[in-house]
Amino acid sequence: MAIRQILYASQTDGPVSERECQDILATSRRNNERDGISGLLVYISNGTFLQVLEGPGAAIENAMSRIKDDARHYDVAVLIDRQRPAPHFTDWSMGYKTFHAAQLADFAGFKRIKNVNELKDLLPAGDAIFSVMTSIYDANRQY
Ligand SMILES: Cc1cc2nc3c(=O)[nH]c(=O)nc-3n(C[C@H](O)[C@H](O)[C@H](O)COP(=O)(O)O)c2cc1C
Repeated sequence: MAIRQILYASQTDGPVSERECQDILATSRRNNERDGISGLLVYISNGTFLQVLEGPGAAIENAMSRIKDDARHYDVAVLIDRQRPAPHFTDWSMGYKTFHAAQLADFAGFKRIKNVNELKDLLPAGDAIFSVMTSIYDANRQY
C-alpha cells in the first residue's frame, strides 16, 4: 500500500515538560489511529521536535495542517515529503522518545538542528536525520 511519508523538525519556546509531551501524544495517538497514520515523535531537550508521519496522502495532509497551526511549536520545517511503497514506522500510531541534546551530539545531521529556523541549512541534513529516526525506531521495536 503506497503511503506518504513526512519528516519535519520544529522548535519550541523553552523546554517542554513530559506532561505536555504526553498530552500531545494522547491526541496524536487517538487521531492517528482513526486516520491510519503511524510514526515516531522525538523530543530533544533543547526544544526541538522531530516527527515522522506515514499514512494515506489526504490523512497526512490534514494532520500536517493541524500540526503546523499548533501554537505549542513553531518553524515547522518539512525535510522529507515523499511516497513510499509501504510504511516502515508501523508499531505505533505515534511512537515517542525523548533525548537530552548532549546524547545526540555525535549524530551526523542532528548537529545542524540548532538551525531549524533556517530551513535551507537543515534540508541537506534530512536524509541523515531520517536515518537516525529509523535507527531510534528499529532499536525500540517490539519483535
Ligand atoms: C510536536 C507535535 C506533534 C503532533 N503530532 C500529531 C499527530 O501525529 N497527529 C495529530 O493528529 N496531531 C498531532 N499534534 C497535535 C495537533 O497539532 C493538534 O493539536 C491536534 O491534531 C488537534 O486534534 P483535535 O482537534 O482532535 O483535538 C501534534 C502536535 C505537536 C506540537
